[in-house]
Amino acid sequence: MSEPTEPYASLADAALKQLRDNDVGTFVKPAEAQYPHQWNWDAALVALGLAPHHPERAMLEIRSLLAGAWETGMVPHILYHHGASDYRPHPDFWRTAGRHPEGLPTSGLSQPPVLATCLLRIVETAPEAHQGAWHDFLAETYPTLLAWHRWWHTARDPRGTGLVAILHPWESGSDDAPRFGMALEAIASDFVMPFTRGDRVHVDASERPSDEDYRRFIDLIDRYANLGWDDADLMEQAPFQVQDAFLNAVLHRADVDLVRIATILGQPHDEIDGWIDATQHAYPTLWVAAEPGFASRDLRTGSLLPHAGFAGFMALWARLATPDQAERLAQAFASPSYAGASGDGYRIPTTAYDDPAFNPRRYWRGPVWIVVNWMLHDGFAAYGHAEAAATLRTDALDLVSTHGFHEHYDPRDGTPGGATGFSWSAALTLDLLRAPSPARVEA
Ligand code: SER
Repeated sequence: MSEPTEPYASLADAALKQLRDNDVGTFVKPAEAQYPHQWNWDAALVALGLAPHHPERAMLEIRSLLAGAWETGMVPHILYHHGASDYRPHPDFWRTAGRHPEGLPTSGLSQPPVLATCLLRIVETAPEAHQGAWHDFLAETYPTLLAWHRWWHTARDPRGTGLVAILHPWESGSDDAPRFGMALEAIASDFVMPFTRGDRVHVDASERPSDEDYRRFIDLIDRYANLGWDDADLMEQAPFQVQDAFLNAVLHRADVDLVRIATILGQPHDEIDGWIDATQHAYPTLWVAAEPGFASRDLRTGSLLPHAGFAGFMALWARLATPDQAERLAQAFASPSYAGASGDGYRIPTTAYDDPAFNPRRYWRGPVWIVVNWMLHDGFAAYGHAEAAATLRTDALDLVSTHGFHEHYDPRDGTPGGATGFSWSAALTLDLLRAPSPARVEA
């Protein structure tokens, strides 16, 4: 682990201060005002950022997250530790009582399972003095982590296809990404929003999902609550079922990292090896040579969905791309679709500039997100595309050092958007400043 170098020397202090400011005791809220509860993948990334500096605090973050696990193994995407707030939907809207742990209301959905990857990275880079405590922590959390991965691979892939389904765009963490558009539009719905949107109080409406998308997000929750959140019923009746290229890449990388954790703990890992093998066989069926990139599949129709955007690159993070595919993705990265017509935009827009759905200010429809840069920096570096990797890192660090820790940034000029005081932009800044190089993928 190396110390931060100029010109980013004061960034680490600013990032740690941001995490302290958002600390509400047992968890760090994802943003100062917009997201007052604990969110799943935000918590894992926050723990990664904090770990070298405050290991006990990082462990508390993860314990708070795993306290929300359901008996099914599912680890929910929102944990309402302190009850309702001005955030909508309120805890009661989910109707998860009887499913969530006693006294800890949660949502009924899950989110990208980055926790195993974050934990392995923490342990592998921990200073000698912290190693013993982290080893104990791995042993403490491993059963819950394993049960969560098992839930994804069984409840969400009951036919054993090797690719799990998300039943709501929120499960992908990239809510209004255009790749979900067709699958959402296919749902026949005359649902009337049962509450006034609360997500546009702290953030301008132009930077939040459209009313049409948001109405469907809430409609899906209402339908699933009517099914009592029963996994088998959901897989039979959910009108939105997508084998998401992003979620499956995150899960696969996390499965591989879980095997390494199992090995550290001396645990058998045949079951995890089976999941890894199945995904390695199935993921290549998502490749679309023409775009190029990996698409997501609408399980209801069997068709691949258009508008892959950033998700199309995530096989790099999962090491699921062949070297040839990685080369094609590096070419796409350098093309006007992702670098802008003049080539001087910030990388990487989450939707391609030449996609009709591109919107440089609206949530996941175009803006640069630090988490995406962080994952693709690692992915391109692993495949030997050092220039693309360096661009992703430098652009991310330039954005946060110029504008502070925002939820996302306009790829054309860096104008910040979305929530202010955004925790994972700070946490991942800390990790990017440390930036140990990933192992190279064998050609
Ligand atoms: N990202 C969602 C929101 O905007 C929830 O996960 O509220």
